[in-house]
Amino acid sequence: MKLLEGKVALVTGANRGIGRAIALGMAREGAHVAFTDLAFDDNTKSLESELASLGVKGKGYASNAASFTETEEVVKQITDDFETVDILVNNAGITKDTLLMRMTEDQWDAVINVNLKSVFNFTKAVQPIMLKKKAGSIINISSVVGVAGNAGQANYAASKAGIIGFTKSVAKEVGSRNIRCNALAPGFIITEMTDKLPEEVKENWIKNIPLRRGGTPEDVANVCVFLGSELSSYVSGQVISICGAMQT
Ligand code: NAI
Repeated sequence: MKLLEGKVALVTGANRGIGRAIALGMAREGAHVAFTDLAFDDNTKSLESELASLGVKGKGYASNAASFTETEEVVKQITDDFETVDILVNNAGITKDTLLMRMTEDQWDAVINVNLKSVFNFTKAVQPIMLKKKAGSIINISSVVGVAGNAGQANYAASKAGIIGFTKSVAKEVGSRNIRCNALAPGFIITEMTDKLPEEVKENWIKNIPLRRGGTPEDVANVCVFLGSELSSYVSGQVISICGAMQT
């Protein structure tokens, strides 16, 4: 029997990168996957067919995770199509890096809304479903930067630190209903988000990673599979780093 056989996972921001790897990793372990992203495009279609080829139900939805009302609507559509949600992965995220002295209000608001408010939006919309079935696993993608801070990323670090406080609070609120809530703190993971960094920044990151490589989206997906499965039934309210020992 596969680790997530018959469970329904909902992954936000899954058209590419880490979210896509999480969707596929969960499907390989038997989960049906509903996923969202800003637009329904070729990436959405190709992920839907990859999920189908793994023998599970997979469907993509266009929805802005930063919007409270769009999130309510899409979660309703997903529960109509999939009947339930067992695992929620709050993955959608953006960066708008710049030093605080140059940071505009728009850059601050955009990052807080997409990275942090989205976690509130989806958790709130999915919570009644999990409360009713007295089961569920919520996985929030934070970052090592949310733990340690980073120059040039005050907005991003604040959003990711906010996710950690939210995760710990939700774990305490809903633990008695057998709902678990954990945060992941990936380090330097090679995706389109990090690919746009200057070469010397990337080389410097890798030099400082004891495992001497950037992480892959699959490195993050594997931990999500663990947190979505019964193997982690007593793990809740935690921040798990996936960073090759960069941060200890
Ligand atoms: P990415 O930029 O490759 O993918 C992010 C996905 O989220 C894209 O498909 C994008 O369209 C979607 N998205 C953006 N805004 C959205 C919105 N408002 N509503 C719905 N979807 C939206 O990024 P990557 O690297 O895959 O990152 C995924 C998550 O992992 C993010 O939360 C990021 O902050 C986090 N993370 C990434 C790290 C890295 O090194 N790549 C390190 C630590 C955390």
